[in-house]
Amino acid sequence: MKDRTPEYRERLDAHVFVCTTDRDSEYASCGAAGAEETLATVKDWLRDRDAYWSPVGVSSTSCLGLCSEHGTAITIQPHNEWYSDVQPEDVPGLLESAFGPNAERVSDEE
Ligand code: FES
Repeated sequence: MKDRTPEYRERLDAHVFVCTTDRDSEYASCGAAGAEETLATVKDWLRDRDAYWSPVGVSSTSCLGLCSEHGTAITIQPHNEWYSDVQPEDVPGLLESAFGPNAERVSDEE
């Protein structure tokens, strides 16, 4: 095992997790509600501000327990922010609220 904590503490100030679960069942899932497009919009927004993966990581993740047929679940850590029903058009406002218009405010410390 390698402890990569110091390296990643240096590199990342926040991490956006986007649920892309697509389950074949009667229950709603983010994957069936446009999660891949929402994930791509998150990445594009951060890339446009040179913030993608440093200082803001992005990962697709499995179920966050916020399943909805109306959109995607997202959590931003360590901000401890949780969202459901996110549509691609919601992403700019959501990320601007979390990180500032140019992703200049990435730390959860004010
Ligand atoms: S399927 Fe995405 S939060 Fe449950």
